[in-house]
Amino acid sequence: MAGAMLGGSRTRLLRLISTASAAASTKPSSSALINNLLLLRGFGSTSTDCVEGRLNDATLFTLSIGKQHSSLLARRGSGVRGILTSASSSSNVEQLRGAREQVKEIINKYHCNPILVRLAWHDAGTYDKNVIEWPKCGGANGSIRFSPELNHAANAGLQNALRLLEPVKEKFPHVSFADLFQLASATAVELAGGPKIPMRYGRLDTSGPEDCAKEGKLPAAGPPNPAEHIRVVFYRMGFNDKEIVALSGAHTLGRSRPERSGWGVASTKYTKDGPGSPGGQSWTAQWLKFDNSYFKDIKEKRDKDLLVLPTDAMLFEDPSFKVYAEKYVESQDAFFEDYAKAHSKLSELGSKFQPSEGLFIDGDAT
Ligand code: HEM
Repeated sequence: MAGAMLGGSRTRLLRLISTASAAASTKPSSSALINNLLLLRGFGSTSTDCVEGRLNDATLFTLSIGKQHSSLLARRGSGVRGILTSASSSSNVEQLRGAREQVKEIINKYHCNPILVRLAWHDAGTYDKNVIEWPKCGGANGSIRFSPELNHAANAGLQNALRLLEPVKEKFPHVSFADLFQLASATAVELAGGPKIPMRYGRLDTSGPEDCAKEGKLPAAGPPNPAEHIRVVFYRMGFNDKEIVALSGAHTLGRSRPERSGWGVASTKYTKDGPGSPGGQSWTAQWLKFDNSYFKDIKEKRDKDLLVLPTDAMLFEDPSFKVYAEKYVESQDAFFEDYAKAHSKLSELGSKFQPSEGLFIDGDAT
């Protein structure tokens, strides 16, 4: 993203071109470049797109084509049809529990924890606390499934996460999309060894592309003044400095891919063999394990194979953020405790629940 806002097709196109021409070290494959260009034109992803886990082209085909409900993704950029457009009134407990079991199987099979966390964060992170009206306020309302929002530059690659969840939605149609995305994320964190996230369900779905968030609501990774930028964006969502640092710790999971975000390198010693589709640059060595190594690694910057975005680095440069970042280096327990609360709050940003008190599937949510 090279300092650009996570938004703007034009910006992304320029970035893709410059990424491609800078090829010496990063070398995005031509198919990935084509995929991104297709995505820019609203065709969603092609069967050769990078997919988390071990999905191959055939699996992808089975998942997304040849069903009555047709594709999960926009094929012509004008909006999605079929399974994705069916707004659920809300969820029910039995179906939520069933969905969670199926999500666990998918995660164990495809090692897709990181992209599921990112999907839920990007659905929720459009929230503006100053807008009262739902769903104009944005947030965890399932709107990311519609092509106007899915095609935002910041969401590059997330069509793969939707594909992974498609069979779950098909089997448990009474789980709303908004719930499914948040359920998958909380489950992904927990299965990776992270804290149990207190969750409630019953989120209502937005019903059409007209409810999509405007582009540019999510944070940029390399803005001129990272700390100021991050505060503007996260304060708009209602978070404080402690919560910002805790949530940033989610980068203990996953990788950045130049062909998606423009950040990171094509492959490192930690990512060249997967698991999942190989490549990208991770923040931590064990990027499928949720622990506090993110804070240790970005503080030390000891290994050029590990990624440190400008917005990661500033956590140890800004005096207020630094207090929490240092605390999380010292204590994984403190990180887990603060992360679980912040993640839970993130998962409910802008959500409208039915019933209004929400549904609880463990009986232990707060
Ligand atoms: C502080 C502001 C943030 C910025 C600037 C940022 C930026 C990025 C970027 C550039 C990527 C790489 C995407 C790609 O190339 O595929 C990424 C990935 C990721 N982000 Fe963030 N992010 C931020 C906050 C968060 C938060 C709050 C969460 C969750 C609570 C999160 C979770 C993730 C995860 C799990 C990945 C890995 C995805 C994968 O491996 O597919 N990020 N982020």
